[in-house]
Amino acid sequence: MTDIIEVKNLGVATDKQQILSNVSLSIPENTITTIVGPSGSGKSTLIRTFNRLTDLYPRLRVNGEVLFHGRSVREYKVMLLRRRIGLVFQKPNPFPMSVFDNVAFGPKLHASLTGSQLDTIVEESLKHAGLYGEVKDNMEKNAMDLSGGQQQRLCIARALAVQPEVLMMDEPTSSLDPIAKSRIEELMLRLKEDYTVVLVTHDIDQANRVSDSIELLYNGKIVEYEKPDVLQMPEYEHARQFVMKLSRQVGRQSRSTSENGCFVKLMRGSLV
Ligand SMILES: Nc1ncnc2c1ncn2[C@@H]1O[C@H](COP(=O)(O)OP(=O)(O)OP(=O)(O)O)[C@@H](O)[C@H]1O
Ligand SMILES: [Mg+2]
Repeated sequence: MTDIIEVKNLGVATDKQQILSNVSLSIPENTITTIVGPSGSGKSTLIRTFNRLTDLYPRLRVNGEVLFHGRSVREYKVMLLRRRIGLVFQKPNPFPMSVFDNVAFGPKLHASLTGSQLDTIVEESLKHAGLYGEVKDNMEKNAMDLSGGQQQRLCIARALAVQPEVLMMDEPTSSLDPIAKSRIEELMLRLKEDYTVVLVTHDIDQANRVSDSIELLYNGKIVEYEKPDVLQMPEYEHARQFVMKLSRQVGRQSRSTSENGCFVKLMRGSLV
């Protein structure tokens, strides 16, 4: 399986705080890779380095490497990089305009398209996001009048409309009810056929349900699940609880050892 993103010894820091330390991981194409970990462990910061959203925060210093298709993300034009690696946020953030205009927004920026080409892209994106059936009769409806779950699927459609290769979702279901949440989970499983999905979630049951592999981030480090000694340390009490929940349903597979010996890679497969 080809790795579409590789992170090598990544560190992110401000003058006052080391946010991520020596993070190494790889993200295979057409899989769902999930990053779990307690609040403040650096999950959002980590995925923001993938499409250089960290550039928007001048206080953050980034070192180490993030490779996209084997090339440093620093070598890409940033707008192109962000088109190819999209991000859906925790809280649905539709633009205050029609459903159609929300989805057409990115394609209009990135390409000069005829009206019918734009119609096709909007329709296809809404279908991919599992929303088309609910909005097709009223594409002029203001997006702010959709339900929360519909708004989140609209944001996914908007992200898909620029034809990304990687779709990152930062806690995409935390503000949704269980039915809306399960629709998004089904959607993620369908999306991985065509895209690579990177999911950040607090919800370990969700991680177990949808992930091909799960990385546990703890205090800015990837925790090595295969090294029980690491997890026995008192400072890893909370991490141990995460791992116990993960291991109930997800088999594990070890990887090569990172330099600081800190990572976890759990692969769906045989139960432990
Ligand atoms: N731009 C920034 N400037 C300064 N500190 C930051 C910045 N971004 C993140 N941090 C700090 O880095 C740490 C990790 O934050 P991050 O948002 O990545 O955590 P998280 O794991 O996504 O948490 P949550 O689960 O609550 O969303 C926090 O202590 C946060 O205050
Ligand atoms: Mg976060």
